[in-house]
Amino acid sequence: MNPEEYTIMYQVEDHHWWYRGMARITRAVLGRWYRPGSGLRILDAGCGTGGAMASYLRDYGEVTGFDFAGEALSFCRLRGATRLTRASVVEVPFADESFDLVVSFDVLCERAVRSDPDALREFYRVLVPGGRVLLRLPAYNWLRGRHDVAVHIRHRYTCGEIARQLREAGFQVELLSYANMFLFPGALVKRMAERLLSRQKGPSDLAVNVGPLNGVLTAVLSAEAPLVARGLLPFGLTVVAAGRKPQG
Ligand SMILES: C[S@@+](CC[C@H](N)C(=O)[O-])C[C@H]1O[C@@H](n2cnc3c(N)ncnc32)[C@H](O)[C@@H]1O
Repeated sequence: MNPEEYTIMYQVEDHHWWYRGMARITRAVLGRWYRPGSGLRILDAGCGTGGAMASYLRDYGEVTGFDFAGEALSFCRLRGATRLTRASVVEVPFADESFDLVVSFDVLCERAVRSDPDALREFYRVLVPGGRVLLRLPAYNWLRGRHDVAVHIRHRYTCGEIARQLREAGFQVELLSYANMFLFPGALVKRMAERLLSRQKGPSDLAVNVGPLNGVLTAVLSAEAPLVARGLLPFGLTVVAAGRKPQG
C-alpha cells in the first residue's frame, strides 16, 4: 500500500462506515460457528493497523497478528497489541497446527502477495484439523479503480475463483458470499466516472469523508450481515469466504 494509506487506515478504521459494516458482517459470519469467549487461537494474517485485532476479534480468543509492513505494526502497537510479527503470508512464521482460526481481510489481493496458492497452503498448515480460514477480498477485476491503485490491489476476485483456490489448498468450502451489494450501483457509477474522467491517481476511498452519511451507510452495509452469513448475496463489491481444514 502507499505509505500514507496506513495512516489513513489507522485514523478511520474505528468509525468509517465500511469498517463498521464489515465488522458487523464478520461477527455474523463468525457467529455461525463460534461464540464470544470461545478461547480460540486466532491468527490475523496481514493485520494492517490492527482495527480488527484490537476490537471484535479478541472477543473470540487470543489474537496474534502479522503484517508485511513495519508501518502497519507500529500502528498496531499504538492500539496496545503485543502478539505481533513482521512476516509475509507466503511464509507464515508459526508451527504447524497452532491456530484454530486464520482470518485474512483484503490481503491476498495485494501486489506484495506473490502467490495466493502459497498463502492458502500456509494458512492450511498452521490450522489445527477442523480449524477455519475466513477470507475477505475485493470483488470483480473489471471494477478496478483509483482505490485499487492507492492500496496496491493486484487482483479482485469472484466467489468461484476463491472457492476453487480454497479447495485446491485442501479446504472444505463452508461459506461463499458477496457482500456490499446494496451500495454496488453507487460504487459502479463512481468507478465508471473515474475511468471516463481519467482520475485513476489519488488517495483510496477511505480518505473520502462522507460526513453525516456515515451513519446511514453503516446501517445499510450492516443490514447485509445476516444475509452474508448465510451465503445469500449473489453480487457485491466484496467476496467473503470460509473454508475448513478437514478433521483428518
Ligand atoms: C488493505 S490492507 C488490510 C489490512 C487489514 N487486514 C484490515 O482488514 O484492515 C492490506 C494489508 O496487507 C498487508 N500485506 C500486503 N502484502 C502482504 C504480505 N505478502 N504478507 C503480509 N501482509 C501483507 C499490507 O501491509 C496491509 O497492511
